Amino acid sequence: MRVLVVGGGGREHALVHSFAQSTLADRIFCAPGNAGTAALADNIGVDADDLPALLDFASREQVDLTVVGPEAPLVAGICDLFEEHGLAIFGPNREAARLEGSKVFAKEVMRAGGVTTGAYSRHETLDSALAALSPNGPYPLVVKADGLAAGKGVIICNDVDEARAAVASCFVTRDFGAAGDVVIIEEFLAGSEVSLLVLCDGRNAVPLAPAQDYKRIFAGDQGPNTGGMGSYCPVPGFEQKAIDAAMEHVAEPVIAALRKRDIPFRGVLYAGLIATDAGVKVLEFNCRFGDPETQAVLPRLDSDLLELCAAGASGELAGVKAAWKPQDCVTVVMASAGYPASSHKGDVISGLAAAGAMDDVTVYHAGTALQHGDVVTAGGRVLAVSALGEGFAVARERAYQAVREISFDGAQVRPDIAARAVKAAAGELDLFPAGFAG
Ligand code: GLY
Repeated sequence: MRVLVVGGGGREHALVHSFAQSTLADRIFCAPGNAGTAALADNIGVDADDLPALLDFASREQVDLTVVGPEAPLVAGICDLFEEHGLAIFGPNREAARLEGSKVFAKEVMRAGGVTTGAYSRHETLDSALAALSPNGPYPLVVKADGLAAGKGVIICNDVDEARAAVASCFVTRDFGAAGDVVIIEEFLAGSEVSLLVLCDGRNAVPLAPAQDYKRIFAGDQGPNTGGMGSYCPVPGFEQKAIDAAMEHVAEPVIAALRKRDIPFRGVLYAGLIATDAGVKVLEFNCRFGDPETQAVLPRLDSDLLELCAAGASGELAGVKAAWKPQDCVTVVMASAGYPASSHKGDVISGLAAAGAMDDVTVYHAGTALQHGDVVTAGGRVLAVSALGEGFAVARERAYQAVREISFDGAQVRPDIAARAVKAAAGELDLFPAGFAG
């Protein structure tokens, strides 16, 4: 099978790495890829957002299956385009990708499917949004730009002044462009978050193992949001019963509600769940593999990912189950100086070979490039270092040991990735509310 992976981050390196282990894979291409994917695939000089060039490449190179990493090409309709030209692709079409591309659409689908989520109001003007904000709260509340805003359109507001500023950033200063044309004001939900990635073929759904990610830059969940500074898989306390419940009460009703609108969901349904005192609710949906969750989930996968994605693209996931290794996985992201406000490019990265040679360690490249024979930094998140271990304590120690082998100027690493998983697995911490049916 000739496979094209669209994207160039850590998630895409993880996809390429898994596909490279498949006996089904004859040749793998990555668009545009990074220094890590270059070792396993042919990087092609095509940007992930250049849909006509991707179509041209896939047609010309007789690609059998395309798998899309980032949300932007999905929301822009890459799957519609490929399918119109008879090319197999694993991802949702433009309408289905609105689950991520429009928060209002996601709320409407959840309402239609009876899926539990935070209470919200929808606003198309500044006056309407301001009228919904009471000085008395309750606070915090969340202001969300409806559209895709490069991960920046979700603002947690601790008082009415912050909330007014947040809606003004959408409607007045237009910080999120057209993504902020419509705004939702949503109840703040507190609890442990779980990312459940579900492979879908339009009708059938196969859950992958649950994961948790770390969004803030600094230890203790301090500082600005990032694309993700680490993750771990599975999630202690979120066991098979909880996965089954999430499938029954979240994934399946959403897929059915979309089908009722004649929208088949094919691809990865990423359910961002939160376990509150009032039960599990949906925080958000994404329409793709999570990053960096994928880098913690795939090392544990004991099934052929390429076979699963091909089955998803061709509507053949009925009765399929993913198999898992018993080990736990911890992923630690190494980010470049200045991230997330900026990123530093061109710093030489050393120690990659030593880290990569460690047992049960995989170093996924994210923002890297090859420059005069050196691997250098080329983005905000530079590497995702994943380690498997018998138990979280071993996996975590191994991941940080590998991180210590690697160096580049200004590297930023959160020191507390998966610390709570170690405690939870040891019974010293409950990640979920009392009575949670996990
Ligand atoms: N880890 C969050 C995301 O992939 O959107």
